Order: sequence, then structure tokens, then C-alpha cells
Amino acid sequence: MAFKMFTKNVTFFILCLNLILISGSFGCQVKRNEETDSFVCVCNNDYCDPLPVEPFSSPQSLTIFTTDKSYYRLTKSVVPESNLKVNQSSDIKVTLNVFDRFQSIIGFGGAFTDAAGININRLTSDALKDRLIADYFGKDGAEYNIGRVPIGGADFSDRIYSYDDDVVDDFELKHFALAPDDYDYKIPYIKKGQQINSNIKLFASPWAPPKWLKTSNQSEGLGILKGEPGSIYWKTYANYLIKFLESYKENAVEFWGLTPQNEPLTGLSPYYGFNTLGFSTYMMKEFIRRDLGPALKAAGYGPDKLKLMIYDHNNDEVYSFARGVLADAEAASYVSGVAYHWYAGPSAENYDDLKKVHDKFPDYFLLSTEACEGWNGPKSNRGVKLGNWTRAETYAYDVIEGLNHWSTGWVDWNLVLDTTGGPNWVKNIVDAPIIVSDDGTEYYKQPMFYSLAHFSKFLKPGSQRIYHQIDEGRMDGVKMTTFVTPTNDLVIIVVNTNPDSVKITFNGAGASKFTLDFGPSSIQTIVKPLSF
Ligand SMILES: *[C@@H]1O[C@H](CO)[C@@H](O)[C@H](O)[C@H]1NC(C)=O
Ligand SMILES: *[C@@H]1O[C@H](CO)[C@@H](O)[C@H](O)[C@H]1NC(C)=O
Ligand SMILES: *[C@@H]1O[C@H](CO)[C@@H](O)[C@H](O)[C@H]1NC(C)=O
Repeated sequence: MAFKMFTKNVTFFILCLNLILISGSFGCQVKRNEETDSFVCVCNNDYCDPLPVEPFSSPQSLTIFTTDKSYYRLTKSVVPESNLKVNQSSDIKVTLNVFDRFQSIIGFGGAFTDAAGININRLTSDALKDRLIADYFGKDGAEYNIGRVPIGGADFSDRIYSYDDDVVDDFELKHFALAPDDYDYKIPYIKKGQQINSNIKLFASPWAPPKWLKTSNQSEGLGILKGEPGSIYWKTYANYLIKFLESYKENAVEFWGLTPQNEPLTGLSPYYGFNTLGFSTYMMKEFIRRDLGPALKAAGYGPDKLKLMIYDHNNDEVYSFARGVLADAEAASYVSGVAYHWYAGPSAENYDDLKKVHDKFPDYFLLSTEACEGWNGPKSNRGVKLGNWTRAETYAYDVIEGLNHWSTGWVDWNLVLDTTGGPNWVKNIVDAPIIVSDDGTEYYKQPMFYSLAHFSKFLKPGSQRIYHQIDEGRMDGVKMTTFVTPTNDLVIIVVNTNPDSVKITFNGAGASKFTLDFGPSSIQTIVKPLSF
């Protein structure tokens, strides 16, 4: 990649709407890629930009954090309330109602894949490895509080493996053992994350079972569990998942949640290239009702201890799958939430399906459990695009739409990848918010990293979405979500994907109305303490 280092520690000035000059310091060590429209922030042994630390709000003021295509990375500015003005000719007028409240946030995070661990291991100093984990989980990082952990190998592993590969029909799982991959790539970095944030919620997801449990005798591609629901094969697979939870516990890693299968419908498809196991809606309902649910409960992992999340697949079929499983009261009694992935795209219909799940099953939370960029389209669009701004916007757009349709958080895919977007044993390369350089002496924080931090830092667990209504103006290219935090701060997050700035007037957020300017191609988080 052809990079050019051009500035460091730029000091900037924002000319505000109300003509107040505000200064701040922008700590990103910028590297621009000639092929892309924005830039990455470089972290090496000498320097890494910390993100802003709490307190995020100041009394009688608005605190504004800005990331945009051209200059800013979570850059903070403070505007005293007395300087806030209304501009009657604003483009959009919004009314908030902080008393009208919806779902509470569970959190934000990413996945401790083998690929992530392989890449973190390539960093040439322990200090840099620690800094990377702090970038995600630390107070001066993105403050992630969720981690997803694949059970055994996934496509983002450098080989296929399960925890019981050597002996066929080992129904008692006598030969079950965690793999070197767990000890080398996953557990060390999960533990580092937990040292920095003791409240990380971990959830586990399997891709494929031991081959001898699958009809095809293969980890990859079409295939389901051998036998029938309730048979020794199905019961063994439930026990296998429990053995995983117990083996991690022996290594002092405990889980908050479990999805019974990553992308279960892929294993019903004849052309699917990597590790999977097929479950139709009916099969999943039966597996939970007869095998997994009772086994988890008997092992002390009932819903009070471990959140079982069904589906874990694309947003377009989330409603039909959830309905098929949760309509069965017995299966539903073991389930806590519905997990979904973004890969069917950001259509209004797909977001509406999330709301339909909530409306029909309001006691089950919704959580976005996987998403990444660079996974589809023409070959030229696949994999890593260092400094790509569009991908920061698609992330923000999907987080906002998900939250506005009852989701309780958003979990990214690989925490870290290499410059090609791997390793991945089937070369299913994608992009990630942090990329390790080829020689391991530095890593790059992409626009996507800052985009997610606009949510993960400010929407602490327990933050509640509040009502907002667009009174006037068109939201073309603009998305917004509004929350109140457990410490009673109003948080407004806006993404403006337009090439021009947009003025938005807010009403209902306290004594005064105010108009703010949202710059071209920007993501902004506004934090205002509420006095009531
Ligand atoms: C940036 O990413 C978007 C979304 O994946 C893609 O459409 C666009 O072509 C990328 N731009 C560049 C310059 O790679
Ligand atoms: C109000 O907004 C309009 C339209 O963007 C702009 O032309 C005008 O200068 C603004 N007025 C003030 C006082 O900022
Ligand atoms: C899977 O392996 C079993 C036992 O080794 C064998 O009986 C069966 O035919 C195999 N199935 C396929 C699809 O290869």
C-alpha cells in the first residue's frame, strides 16, 4: 500500500454556528492512502492516539464529539448553553421527549476470532498488543463491553478444527479438549480485555461440530446433525457446547451468552464454502426444546445464568425464524434474545422485521451479533480498504437504524485483521476497524473504529432510547438516534452522509431550543446533562 505520512497532532479550530471559536487537540497520527477518501490513525511503539475520557458532559453545556471524512477523529468541543442559538432556517426540526423511553442498551463489541489473535500476536511488542486491547476495551479506548468467541474453528481461522476430531462417535466426549488455537489466539486476549474492563459480556457461537456429528462428515458446507432431535447425536452436540463453556471456565473465562449456531441456514445451502451446521427453524426449535435447553439448565446454565440467543443470521429472515422458535412456549422458556447479522442489507423492510420481532415477542431482546465491510460486491470491493470513509458511514447508519428498531447493541466481526483482510482458510477476506501492518511494527485504526466508538463510549449499558420526532425537513442522507444514559445525560448521535452540512434544530431537550451544524460526511455525538 502506498502511504504518505503528512501531519501529526494537528490543532484545529471550529467556527461554530454562533460564531464562537473553540479549540481542541486532534491526536491522530494520520496516514493517508492515495486510493481512498479518508485516513487511518497509526499506532506504534512511540505513539497511539487515546480517545476522550470521561466525564463526557459538562454542566450547562453541550459537549460535541466529531469524526468526519476530512479532519476529525472523536474530537471534542464544548459549547456553553448560553451560546446556543436557534437558526429559524435550519434544514431539519426535531422534537425530543426524554420521558418517553424504549429499550435499554446491552452493549457494543467485536469478536475474538483466531484471525484477530493471529494478527495481535504479530505485533512486535507487548506494549503495542496491550495498547490495541486498550483501544477497544479501555477508558481511553472505545469502551467495548461485549466480546464474541467462536467455539472451535470458523472461516477466520487458519485451519479447520473442532474439540473432538480424533475419535469418531465419541458420544461421551472423552476426547474433548480445547485446541492450541484457544490458548494462543483467543484466551490471552480475552483475559487482557477483562483486565481492562471487568464487565465484558462474552458470548460464544459455534460454526461446525466435530465432523462425525454431521451428515456430510465434513465441517464445511451442506449438512445437519445426524439422527433426529432427541437422538444421541443431538444430545452429544448439546453436551459438546456445554463442555466448551466448562473448559473456558476452567481457564477462568466465563460466558454471559450463547448462540446455538452461527448462521444456521447456511448449512442447508448446497453451495456454502466454509464451516457450518444447518438448522431449519423447526430443527432449532426442537434442538432447544428437547436437547440444548434442558442440558444447559441441568448444567447450571439456565436463562438466569446464560443468555441463549437464537438465530444469529441475516436480518431478512429474523422475524420468521424468531416466530417459528418462540411460538413454542417450551423452547421459548430457554431463550433470552434474538441475534441477527446485517448481511441482507439496510432495507426499510429488514429493519422493520426487527420491530416486528419486538412487537410480537417484547420479552426477548434483539442484538446485532455480526457485521463487517468488504465482504461482498465485485472483487475490487473485497477485503481491506485502508482509510475508507464510506464504511464508517455504513457502520453508523446500521447501528442507528438497528437501535431505532429495538436492537440493544451492535457486535462487530473480527477485532483485528491483516492488510489483506485475513487470515481466513477459505480466503473469505473482509475489512476490520483495526488492521496490523505487514511487519507488525504498527497498526491502523480505520474510520470504522471511530464510527463505532461514537456509540460504544457514550451509550453505556442501561442507556435508554428516547422518543424523537422529525417535525420539519427531510432526513435524506441523515440518520439520528437519541438516548438518556444511566447518569442522566442526553445523548444524540447523528450521521450526515451528505457532501454539505446540515443544520438541525432540537426542541424538548431542556429549557432552550438550539440549532447545531452537522458537517459534510460526519458522525457526531452530542452529550448534554439533563437537569430534571
Ligand atoms: C469504500 O467502501 C465502499 C463500501 O464498501 C465501496 O463501495 C467503495 O468503493 C470503497 N472506496 C474505495 C475507494 O475503495
Ligand atoms: C442560518 O442558516 C442559514 C441557512 O443555512 C444561513 O445562511 C445563515 O447564515 C444562518 N444564520 C446564522 C445567524 O447563523
Ligand atoms: C460418514 O461416516 C460414516 C462412518 O464412518 C459412514 O458410515 C457414512 O457413510 C459417512 N457419510 C458420508 C456422507 O460420507
